[in-house]
Amino acid sequence: MKSIQSILKVKKELQSVKDSGLSIGFVPTMGFFHKGHLKLMEEAKKENDLAVVSIFVNPTQFGEGEDFGKYPRDLKRDQEMAESAGVDIVFNPSAEDIYLDGLQTEIAVSKLSSVLCGKNRKGHFTGVATVVAKLLNIVEPDKAYFGLKDYQQYLIVCQMVKDLNINVNIVGVPTVRDEDGLAASSRNIYLAYDEREEALILYECLKKAQRLLDGGIRNTSQIKKVLKEMLDLKNLVTLEYLEIVNKDTLEAVENIENQALVAIAAKVGKARLIDNMVIG
Ligand code: PAJ
Repeated sequence: MKSIQSILKVKKELQSVKDSGLSIGFVPTMGFFHKGHLKLMEEAKKENDLAVVSIFVNPTQFGEGEDFGKYPRDLKRDQEMAESAGVDIVFNPSAEDIYLDGLQTEIAVSKLSSVLCGKNRKGHFTGVATVVAKLLNIVEPDKAYFGLKDYQQYLIVCQMVKDLNINVNIVGVPTVRDEDGLAASSRNIYLAYDEREEALILYECLKKAQRLLDGGIRNTSQIKKVLKEMLDLKNLVTLEYLEIVNKDTLEAVENIENQALVAIAAKVGKARLIDNMVIG
């Protein structure tokens, strides 16, 4: 496995890969790997000749007062884990290299970014879309892998690629969970034992929504009422939003016809956690 920091070097390395007709699978990340990241890397390696993973804690997607400075980082551990997942190249650019002289161009995926996490995290998805576009232009992969755990991010990247005619296939990978059901996340490290126990309510709510729908309850206000009562019982969980929306447009749904996305964001201790499930 090679570890490359410079944009120029990684472009040169990948050009020779492309010249020899090999396919590239790409996994953009902010590092501090867990089994969700590893799953993406394994898929990238399985479906392509070469797997490339980027590690870049992108400053422009963190808002004021968010955890950019404290975001967990451990490059050596990440490199070892990437190697064990079969990754060929780890690309870990510096912020100076990525944002050389500052940026005058930003990519805003307007409608999809205005709801759910976009409401309380102003500018977050513009930061994400812009850095993902830059990374895709540097790596020029055949396929790029995104987790459905960040469902809104996945939809935004799909829309951006379509709108800007970027030549890549975006692959969505199902959420990887720990044994207790908690969605794997780099931010889970912030959780104390009792907070982690209470954080399990997020997944419990998603499963409950599925059971209510299975039982014939299609009205989303009714479903949300039940879930909110479950969340209210957890003192350490502060709900940010609980929404049931169209799984393609993220627009609110009143009555579920076939499928809908249930999306939850909550603060548990110092951690801001999100989880979601397509039900129906
Ligand atoms: P990061 O949070 O490091 O996540 C990198 C990728 O791993 C994302 O596609 C995310 O959806 C996926 N992922 C995280 N937890 C997962 C889980 N439990 N199961 C499956 N996939 C999971 O998302 C980002 O970084 C950044 O916003 C980035 C796209 C790299 C842009 O800076």
